[in-house]
Amino acid sequence: MAETKRAFVIGHPISHSRSPLVHGMWLQHHALEGTYIAHDVSPENLLAFFNRIRAGEFVGGNITLPHKETALELVDEVDDTARRLGAINTVWMEGDRLLGTNTDGEGFLANLDDRHPGWDAPARLRAGALVLGAGGASRAIVMGLADRGFQRVTVANRTVARGEAIAEEFGGPCDTISIDEASKGGDYGLIVNTTSLGMGGEGMPIDPALFPRSTLVTDAVYTPLMTPLLLAAKAAGQPTVDGLGMLLYQAVPGFERWFGIRPTVTNRIRETVLATMK
Ligand code: ATR
Repeated sequence: MAETKRAFVIGHPISHSRSPLVHGMWLQHHALEGTYIAHDVSPENLLAFFNRIRAGEFVGGNITLPHKETALELVDEVDDTARRLGAINTVWMEGDRLLGTNTDGEGFLANLDDRHPGWDAPARLRAGALVLGAGGASRAIVMGLADRGFQRVTVANRTVARGEAIAEEFGGPCDTISIDEASKGGDYGLIVNTTSLGMGGEGMPIDPALFPRSTLVTDAVYTPLMTPLLLAAKAAGQPTVDGLGMLLYQAVPGFERWFGIRPTVTNRIRETVLATMK
């Protein structure tokens, strides 16, 4: 019998994570001899956990809050994406080396590719994107949009200095404005919310009705699936994409590295994860 391949997700806290459910369904679907288990690892126990990975207990795993930045320092090598973002969410063993990457930006783009094909048409790339928020998710999304060819990626954040830091760091098409300025509307092709506003169904960073009807509105918040921002956009006749797919798609590259099969994000997985949120 093949040896069981063990993967993990670590975070602190971790009990809320839907990743074991997603990877569990993929393992079952492909009848693989593997496990994917959540471990609550506090910052002071992070190094000890990495020693367990190096000792061969795991093929790899996911890293979530608050370890994404520290973990980057604990692996042997990271790819260009992770280096630019300064954070990793996926690690895997290659021989006796521990490698890391960050799949958040890729997950964001793949979700839009899936749910709104043609979303990155030339007219939208020219019109540019407005990214609300300036945390870790914003960094990954800003980088993903710039790499996809958006000619303007504007970061708007409550704390202006954080928005400025992202715009300066990534350069190119990136610039920054205040949330107040963003609230006045503008001719953007895409609006992305990465702030925590909307979680639990409360709050909305800007009013999408002040933007063109063709503006695509998407939210990294997926609890609830239809956030106040997405509901308002829908009411204004704008196309919307919810954020659940970003969570599902960022999981794909890790599973492929650990278990050797590229899994598919299906409606059944979406529905199963959704059912756990009710
Ligand atoms: P991430 O999960 O992306 O790493 P984070 O670093 O916790 O998130 O950042 C959360 C984002 O939500 C930030 O952009 C934060 O704005 P500040 O940088 O000004 O703190 C934003 N945010 C949280 N609560 C907010 C509120 N009530 N109004 C506006 N923005 C808010």
